[in-house]
Amino acid sequence: MTGTEDRPSSLVADWNTLHRVFIRPEDEKSRNTLVKYMEQILFGLHDFLNKHVGVTEEISLIKLAEEYTDTKINAEPLKKLADVIKDIIDEIAPRAVNVASPYFIGHMTSAIPFFMVHLKAITAALNQNVIKLETSKVLSVLEKQILAKIHRMIFNFEESFYLEHVQNTDTSLGVFTSGGTTANLTALWVARNLCFPPKGDFESIEKNGFHAAMTAHSLDRLVILVSKRGHYSLRKAAGILGLGNQNVIPIDVDSKRSIDLKKLKAAIKDLTADKKTRVMALIGIAGATETGIIDPLSKLADICQQHKIHFHVDAAWGGPVLLSEKYSPLLKGIERADSVTIDCHKQFYMPMSSGMVYFKDPRALDTIVYHARYVIRPGSVDLGIKTLEGSREANSLILDSALKIMGSKGYALMIEHGIETAKLFAKKIKKRPLFQLVTEPKLNILTYRMIPLDIRKKLETADIEERQELDAILDEINIKIQRIQREAGKSFVSRTRLRNLPDDPHNVLVLRSVMMNPMTTSRILDEILDEQEAILQSLEEP
Ligand SMILES: Cc1ncc(COP(=O)(O)O)c(C=O)c1O
Repeated sequence: MTGTEDRPSSLVADWNTLHRVFIRPEDEKSRNTLVKYMEQILFGLHDFLNKHVGVTEEISLIKLAEEYTDTKINAEPLKKLADVIKDIIDEIAPRAVNVASPYFIGHMTSAIPFFMVHLKAITAALNQNVIKLETSKVLSVLEKQILAKIHRMIFNFEESFYLEHVQNTDTSLGVFTSGGTTANLTALWVARNLCFPPKGDFESIEKNGFHAAMTAHSLDRLVILVSKRGHYSLRKAAGILGLGNQNVIPIDVDSKRSIDLKKLKAAIKDLTADKKTRVMALIGIAGATETGIIDPLSKLADICQQHKIHFHVDAAWGGPVLLSEKYSPLLKGIERADSVTIDCHKQFYMPMSSGMVYFKDPRALDTIVYHARYVIRPGSVDLGIKTLEGSREANSLILDSALKIMGSKGYALMIEHGIETAKLFAKKIKKRPLFQLVTEPKLNILTYRMIPLDIRKKLETADIEERQELDAILDEINIKIQRIQREAGKSFVSRTRLRNLPDDPHNVLVLRSVMMNPMTTSRILDEILDEQEAILQSLEEP
């Protein structure tokens, strides 16, 4: 959608225009114009956020796509900034998804405190590139400080450790990444490289490659173990790192829906019996994407210690729970991890997109060092020497400022509200005869499904085969409920497939709720369930 036909003839691409775009506002008039634009963004969008929820018309996706088929770049300017902003507010925002609505309780993307918009604008205005000191200076130093703060939150070493490493230019406590996927990839990249120490002519897997590493170490296969609930980014990482994604071995979950320790131990025994297979990493999940479940991290740490396996904790979701005194014990054992992923754009409530990965050993990242002649030179202190990403924005400034504004207590309040709201929602679901809670919230995620009364009755006496048939009907009903509610545009829950009971052989369709918006109240939860009941009733009407 470009609308070339509406282009005012006064708009031309020339040096005068270029100067206007680059020159900072110096006089009163141009300052006022910029302020006016910022107001338009903040308040124009705010009005939209208050009015709209969800993808309002799913069917219009086809129509929307038809509107976006212009594949030619315009040679001359089409619009002034004010008009571009107005179009975004009027045409793009209402067709986007209002993830900030308190009725939007379906995904890990939600409302953010409004000051985040200001902080994001500041990072854009400064436009620092933390790949290197020459384009970031103090931002690189600040990033090291915030990395040490979060490292301390996870591993809580002695003061002397942090004094030694906080600004140590040789060591790294962690790195910022573009998100949880690249954080997991970075952790597993390091784990893979650590798995193959030098041997004879073989120097490193990074230099000599996968085949040479496996040959030098007399191995046939490298595997990663994680519960069935592991995030799919782990499989991507195994693909990229040359292991093959089929070598991410999913371990079954137990009655608590966390990794089954007996099956895990048996898998390690079986896999390593021939001495040709090595377990490269065991991953504990702290806040599973679909269920919010936390694996028994201390027990996993014991297993890793016993078998000398790299212990990675995927706390992309649950990591910030460590800021809550009340709920941090749920993550006991995370301090024994070798590496930990935490997303900033999840429960640190930062804007898209930012993640982090931490290493217990400040030397671990040495295994992925890269240099280039024009930047990240040997001996320099450039942060880009040990990161997967190249150019990177200063997301550390946003996290550092947010912690200043909120304090750990402010974050704890939001996190505790989420967990307690999820528990409240679970209670409400259990009380209603048309609902079945499928997974209890350990953190702030829960799943459930709707069951019409006649089917519930039949389920009571159904054998396995009949149950499967009834579950298939329920799957269809729940898909429809989720779709209709989403398209109605008032509220939103997501959906996934899970086992109904932990020992069931097949998966069922479940509705999934993620509670992270502090504005989601008990009344709103009632309204969401009422709406689902009304949808079910409408489906049952002839
Ligand atoms: C547990 C877990 N790990 C990793 C990821 C990947 O994070 P991202 O989407 O930021 O790449 C997610 C995303 O939902 C997640 O829930």
